[in-house]
Amino acid sequence: MNKVIGLFAGSLRKESFSRKIAKAVAAMAPAGFEFKIISLGDLPLYNQDFDDENQVPESYTIFRNEVKVIDGAIFITPEYNRSVPAVLKNALDVGSRPYGKSVWDGKPGAVFSNSPGSISGFGANHHLRQSLVFLNVPVMQQPEVYLTKVDELFDEQRNIQKEEIREFLQKAVDAFIVWFNKNSSQ
Ligand code: FNR
Repeated sequence: MNKVIGLFAGSLRKESFSRKIAKAVAAMAPAGFEFKIISLGDLPLYNQDFDDENQVPESYTIFRNEVKVIDGAIFITPEYNRSVPAVLKNALDVGSRPYGKSVWDGKPGAVFSNSPGSISGFGANHHLRQSLVFLNVPVMQQPEVYLTKVDELFDEQRNIQKEEIREFLQKAVDAFIVWFNKNSSQ
């Protein structure tokens, strides 16, 4: 059976570069793997009252069930104010509760950050890693993935037009698969 890697893009914007990168990465899965884009847009802001089983939003249940069955995760994040966009942090929080029932626990992950700017989402990348430590998501250390000038990355058909960046991303994905195979418990 294929291993399933969830792809989480930290932006809801229609023309989001992060979502376009997620789509490009989705096509890079090797044999034996399926890369599945998991949507974050339907999740209301996490509220601890929703831990009450009579108050759980249906979208939380759907999301938690989707994350439960993936084997690993690649987070593709832009940077908002030098940190993780709220939509992605919210999804981490939703998946982490109720207490003791986190759906993230032990799933190997990777962080790919991006920006039109030259710092390439470094702040978001490392803030995200901080949360992933607490969630017990072991994160690939190398290669680090910081994509710059993403506003110049895509052609009008939303394909990556810089071959060297496509190759770099494919190498990062390949490295993640090798690392995943060493770190996955199942
Ligand atoms: C940004 N942007 C941004 N870029 C950056 O490199 N560092 C930052 O701290 C921020 N902060 C920030 C805050 C907010 C609220 C917005 C809306 C934007 C610019 C950001 O990188 C750019 O809008 C990207 O295009 C957002 O990613 P998506 O939506 O294209 O995936």
